[in-house]
Amino acid sequence: MSHVAYVNGRYLPQQQAFVHIEDRGYQFADAVYEVTCIWNGKPVDHAGHLARLRRSLAELRIPTPMTDAAMTAIMREIVRLNRIRMGAVYIQVGRGVAVRNHPFPLKQIKPSVVMTAKHGAGPAEAVAQAGVKVTVQPDIRWGRVDIKSVGLLPNALAKQAAVEAKAFEALLVREDGVVTEASASNAWLVTKDKTIVTHPGTNKILSGITRATVMKLAKQAGYTVQERTFTLDDVLAAKEVFLTGTTTFVLPVVQVDERMIANGAPGEMALNLRKAYLDYVNGLDDSAWSVKA
Ligand code: PDD
Repeated sequence: MSHVAYVNGRYLPQQQAFVHIEDRGYQFADAVYEVTCIWNGKPVDHAGHLARLRRSLAELRIPTPMTDAAMTAIMREIVRLNRIRMGAVYIQVGRGVAVRNHPFPLKQIKPSVVMTAKHGAGPAEAVAQAGVKVTVQPDIRWGRVDIKSVGLLPNALAKQAAVEAKAFEALLVREDGVVTEASASNAWLVTKDKTIVTHPGTNKILSGITRATVMKLAKQAGYTVQERTFTLDDVLAAKEVFLTGTTTFVLPVVQVDERMIANGAPGEMALNLRKAYLDYVNGLDDSAWSVKA
């Protein structure tokens, strides 16, 4: 069966689903997106993703194209048409189509809305249990990466560097030495005294929906969580390192380039949090489609 995409009001086979060459998303990356995991046919943290989508749109002054309920109805249809049980839905909303000119069009234009879905959720359990290697790349992104815009060239370059280094991810390091996050996931460490640390939710990171859920789960487990900046030296000296994200879940990191983290085995706290996260997604029921956070 071919994949079905939603494009500006129509459900189309993906081979026939196109956007206009003067779409500002294509020309200026003037568009935002969300990726939601579909687990056992249910969306993970649906309300959170919709809320962040609305925030990203508001930050760029792109009108909200439809209600959350309408967006949810399309999502459910895309999941059904593509028969997704374990997978992900991609939503992209852009300012719309206008003759190429840098400022926003004078006349209000209709936002572009695209939705696609794919099969496959999270890394294989064996990968998570073994832990992954990461590499390190300079964080060369713009100053508003809290907006989930489609301007992902630096992220794509960093991820490509990871692939070439036979690593799962690239940790992004700013000029001042601060590790912000990874190319498509948030970065965490556990200090020697068992404090969990992650970068504050500022404009320097994409504040992950998974990050927020894992933070809640960590506190429920009785762990101490601190939002503060940390450096690559802190990472190398850490007891544990892990990543979180929609396509990552909670993933232990055991190696940074040629250096091992602790004894090179996945950390106990990271594995506990991964289990807590899997219990959480396994417990989702039909109310997961509710748009209220
Ligand atoms: N990326 N940081 C960056 C730069 C990201 O691109 C992502 C997610 C995250 C984690 O956020 P969340 O927990 O909300 O997925 C952090 C998605 C999956 C992507 O671009 O495909």
